[in-house]
Amino acid sequence: MSFNMDTFMRQLNFPRHFRWGVATSAYQIEGGAEADGKKPSIWDAFCRMPGVILDGKSGVNATNHYFLWKQDIQLMKELGIKTYRFSIAWSRIFPDGVGEVNPKGVAFYDALIDALLNAGIEPMITLYHWDLPQILQEKGGWISRDTVSAFAQYAQFCFLKYRDRVHLWITHNEPWVAAKLGHEWGVHAPGLRSNEAAVIAAHHLLLSHGMALQSMRPLATQSQKLGIALNLNPVCPENPSREADIQAAHKYELFLNDFFLKGLFKGVYPTEILAEFPALSRAIHPQDMDLIHTPIDFIGINYYTRTLVNTGGVVAPQGNPHSSMWEFYPQGLREIVERVWNDYHPKEIFITENGTALESESLVDLKRIEYIQAHLIEIHKLLANSICVSGYYAWSFLDNFEWAHGYEKRFGLVHVDFGTYQRIPRSSALWYKQVINNNSVEI
Ligand code: FCB
Repeated sequence: MSFNMDTFMRQLNFPRHFRWGVATSAYQIEGGAEADGKKPSIWDAFCRMPGVILDGKSGVNATNHYFLWKQDIQLMKELGIKTYRFSIAWSRIFPDGVGEVNPKGVAFYDALIDALLNAGIEPMITLYHWDLPQILQEKGGWISRDTVSAFAQYAQFCFLKYRDRVHLWITHNEPWVAAKLGHEWGVHAPGLRSNEAAVIAAHHLLLSHGMALQSMRPLATQSQKLGIALNLNPVCPENPSREADIQAAHKYELFLNDFFLKGLFKGVYPTEILAEFPALSRAIHPQDMDLIHTPIDFIGINYYTRTLVNTGGVVAPQGNPHSSMWEFYPQGLREIVERVWNDYHPKEIFITENGTALESESLVDLKRIEYIQAHLIEIHKLLANSICVSGYYAWSFLDNFEWAHGYEKRFGLVHVDFGTYQRIPRSSALWYKQVINNNSVEI
């Protein structure tokens, strides 16, 4: 008797209007760091500091997308991508952070949006993916409330310009990373090392989100959706039967997840954090928490892995297979989404980033397929439980500048040759094309 393996395949069908996307960010792909009137961001400045980026690299050219965007959109179209999440480089629009507008910067995103729509791809804009205009950093950056109002003005300007064509808007990408890695660990721009600065920056990032929403909402239509993208993940004690590890995990989670979720959905911060940082309480002005609590239409969740903690801090997990950066832990996506859904009742959830870096540059990236498939299976379970996940954005469309890791970590569905800037879709891109085309995942 012979078996046809096909009989053992199962199709996991996704809802008809599920949004299949890919994501990128400005500094990681655009290049053109000084093109057409753009002035430096904190990432341009940070990359010039010796020893902070692997091999002394920077995003000065990145994937050269600023000059190759037409062919990139064409490639997305060929791959059947339905929606594209990209970010705007603030200092292309306002080279000095506020004040005079740079028409060429505005025109770049205008043309990009038009080309996406012509290709049948829905744009999703992120207003801030970590590239603060450097001039604002020199005036205090996210430690200063002036940056908060500058962001609200920039957000409103972009909204007015592009709202006729763009329905999906994200204020901030991963404010925890911007605050913690940039202001406490010093491994991201602007490279500060103060835990107090990190919580104050986090508060100002959230406040600027709230103020931006207040400035955008009156101009929005019913069909426009405004939200924020958080990096959320389950925080687990390394030894689940050790009380000290359990406490350490709880403490870590307070800032990673709770600070942002409670701030946004409940208008309060965890009391433990307020007690630990009197300077934070002083930085919170009357009305701030109400602004932060402004209703959002969706929450974006970026998920890559869980966080494992013991009393010494974050530890690298043993046991589960690792990608070149993080542990493979797909069930964590379901766990965190369920928790957010049950505890905070968002109207809608998008998975705004998920993907993996691989060691090899190979075009045959079966491990990436395995990774994405496993996470889509978890999303399918969420959908089966009537949890409203409306879309999935694979990180990333292209290999790109992976922050402090330079160009060593390759997250792309599409391979980029950083000498010639040639793009070649990997196996995962072709597999994803099938998923989108069938609106289902085969397992
Ligand atoms: C996320 C960032 C994104 C990218 C991925 C790998 O934290 O939002 O820019 O670096 O990680």
